[in-house]
Amino acid sequence: MNINPRLTTLPDFPFDKLKTLLEGITPPEELDPIALSVGEPQQPVPHWVRDIVSDNFHTWNKYPPFPGSVDLRQAIAGWLGRRFGLGHGDIDPMVHILACAGTREALYLLPTWLVPDQKNGKRPIVAMPNPFYHVYGTAALASGAESLYLSATKETGYLPDLDELDAEILSRLSILFLCSPANPQGAVADHTYLERAINLARKYDFTLCVDECYADVYDTTPPLSALQVCRDMDGSGTDYTNVLVFHSLSKRSNGAGLRSGFFAGDAAIMQGYGRFRSYISASIPLPIDAASAAVWSEDSHTDDIRAFYRNNFDIAERIIDGRFDFYRPDGGFFLWLNTGNGEQAAQTLWRDAGVRVLPGAHSAREDKNGFNPGASHIRLALVNDAPVISEACERLVKVL
Ligand SMILES: Cc1ncc(COP(=O)(O)O)c(C=O)c1O
Repeated sequence: MNINPRLTTLPDFPFDKLKTLLEGITPPEELDPIALSVGEPQQPVPHWVRDIVSDNFHTWNKYPPFPGSVDLRQAIAGWLGRRFGLGHGDIDPMVHILACAGTREALYLLPTWLVPDQKNGKRPIVAMPNPFYHVYGTAALASGAESLYLSATKETGYLPDLDELDAEILSRLSILFLCSPANPQGAVADHTYLERAINLARKYDFTLCVDECYADVYDTTPPLSALQVCRDMDGSGTDYTNVLVFHSLSKRSNGAGLRSGFFAGDAAIMQGYGRFRSYISASIPLPIDAASAAVWSEDSHTDDIRAFYRNNFDIAERIIDGRFDFYRPDGGFFLWLNTGNGEQAAQTLWRDAGVRVLPGAHSAREDKNGFNPGASHIRLALVNDAPVISEACERLVKVL
């Protein structure tokens, strides 16, 4: 079969790998299985979304505009204003914002448009944290760039160490993906870290893509956006050169099935990538677009969602603290536990406790020294109701 040779090294999808790992293992009959492997919110979207989708029934026959409706982009700008203090002078919804049908597709397509054949006469590099949200890796592979995995471990504060970007790497770097709050570790990049990354992007002319999909899922302190840092650095308000951020309703509003997100930043990239996307990108159906505008315009439901996850972390902390390098992440809804051997722990948990978790190795790659920085960990998505989370944590402590 003739296939794109760049994609022959694509590893199995993390959840398929997990299926293979657990094949033939039967969970105890007397226990109800509990799945904490997938980062999918189990709570509903705000109930009023139903009426908006229904009221816009007449628009299902229309091709939706690929950048999102004007109303949606204005609603997103409103949220950026309330959440990150970006005012009217800072962000122009028609210039700096494009909606996307979930951030996954926008993250994936970006390198196809952005990565050149060569940078400074050499093969370009797309760098990403390791472990990482799997789409960055596939996007890098398809673009033809060399993938560079930057370990994000306890030693590096669970974010990539920017010192790893030496002069040779920087001269070839085309895209640096960061994730804050990070999936899976929940670490949040602070102002100094983001400012340093932005300065590097501008000095060496690469695109800094900060995936901020979990920005509204935090414990105590609202995470910063890289756009806010650009604004603080610039003073004049609208210079997002070399910077893009990605946001989604999937985690903020439990709307994984809405397929609704956006990205924002550098006006020149938005224009060029927008032009490319006008040919091929998926767009948000108009009833969902209308609902999304309302969801971005309403913040109180995100208080409830945060309270839900905080309560789950309280439970996990009570039961697990002091074991497996337990820590309470600053953002996101994952527990990242060091069990020594993540794959073995995932098998034991399924066999002896009926709890399904994702081995950290499945969200990470071996670096050039053969080190997989996720191998000793497991990831638990604390997305279920409190009694289920409590039961899962009790079972985990018992069998591990
Ligand atoms: C870090 C991160 N970025 C992006 C996404 C994609 O979200 P969506 O395509 O639903 O907007 C996810 C989903 O799990 C994620 O964890």
